[in-house]
Amino acid sequence: MAMAFFSRLNFQEGLQTFSVMHWIPTYVVLGLTSTILITYGLVCTKFWILSVLVLAWHAYDWNTYQEGGRRSAWVRNWTLWKYFQKYFPVKLVKTHDLSPKHNYLIANHPHGIFSFGAFINFATEATGFDRIFPNITPYLGTIRWFFWFPILRDYMMSVGVCPVSETTLKYLLSQKHTSNAVVVVVGGGAEALLCHPGASTVFLKHRKGFVKLALQTGAHLVPTYSFGENETYNQETFPEGTWKRFFQKKFQEIFKKHLRLYLCTFHGRGLTRESWGFLPFNHPITTVVGEPLPIPMIQNPDKETVDKYHTLYINALCKLFDEYKIQYGLPQTQKLTII
Ligand SMILES: *[C@@H]1O[C@H](CO)[C@@H](O)[C@H](O)[C@H]1NC(C)=O
Ligand SMILES: *[C@@H]1O[C@H](CO)[C@@H](O)[C@H](O)[C@H]1NC(C)=O
Repeated sequence: MAMAFFSRLNFQEGLQTFSVMHWIPTYVVLGLTSTILITYGLVCTKFWILSVLVLAWHAYDWNTYQEGGRRSAWVRNWTLWKYFQKYFPVKLVKTHDLSPKHNYLIANHPHGIFSFGAFINFATEATGFDRIFPNITPYLGTIRWFFWFPILRDYMMSVGVCPVSETTLKYLLSQKHTSNAVVVVVGGGAEALLCHPGASTVFLKHRKGFVKLALQTGAHLVPTYSFGENETYNQETFPEGTWKRFFQKKFQEIFKKHLRLYLCTFHGRGLTRESWGFLPFNHPITTVVGEPLPIPMIQNPDKETVDKYHTLYINALCKLFDEYKIQYGLPQTQKLTII
């Protein structure tokens, strides 16, 4: 038993499991400890000057996160992410080149519970983004308030994560020179609630802001779909009328209103593949990057124009889904449902 545990294969698997396990807790720990240490230092110790210095830096550096951040090729290239990628494994598939002469708004679907595909493919070099799309700088958008925490924000900026806000997206897609690609998971956290067996459903019908932004900046729209993203966890759906359902709904409302987070109850595997726990299942995730849809630059696009390009985008996404679904494990009859 001990021999088996220390065999090479198990050691590799252990590293993969660790890399996945450390991920979410690291954000929580960085956010919490930085806040607690700074407050504690300020109020209760004679080292308050250190807290003041950190806060002063935080204030001085405030705008950086909205203007492209401060990325580190080294952090993006950590071996840790390689183990993370091999756990599922995650793959990045290119169908067309992205020319550095344009900026791109890459829309990613579906969100799943944690968007592992989007993170590994666009916020790390584990699948070789830099090699596959040379001279393109990827940014991955996320919830804005994560950047209010000192230290956590620096960690997030180092891999090229940026806030999804109009200021930032406009800045990246117009102020800075071309060859930027901002990835936005259009359905947002709400889409996590749509993972149900037998269905592929994405929130897109009423999400038009990204199309308007592409028109205002002339950024080309790129459809991407992460096959397998929804299979990384199983969601619990409680029957209508149970107290569990009631509390889930109540918590959902509170979290959505104040934090823009969506709660759902889910489970995956435990430390061993057969057990129950909160690690994701080892299910392959393949993110297919479609053909860029050229978008003209229009300062103030009217509703008809936004609708026109929104429809073109939806058609492009459905085409991509239908073209690759069989190759990545879905039945011929599977349709992408857009709500
Ligand atoms: C990442 O590291 C590998 C070697 O481990 C190197 O060949 C590659 O150029 C690096 N990529 C980037 C983008 O720094
Ligand atoms: C994930 O989506 C596929 C179709 O895209 C579906 O067949 C499968 O049942 C879904 N899985 C879960 C857990 O929702």
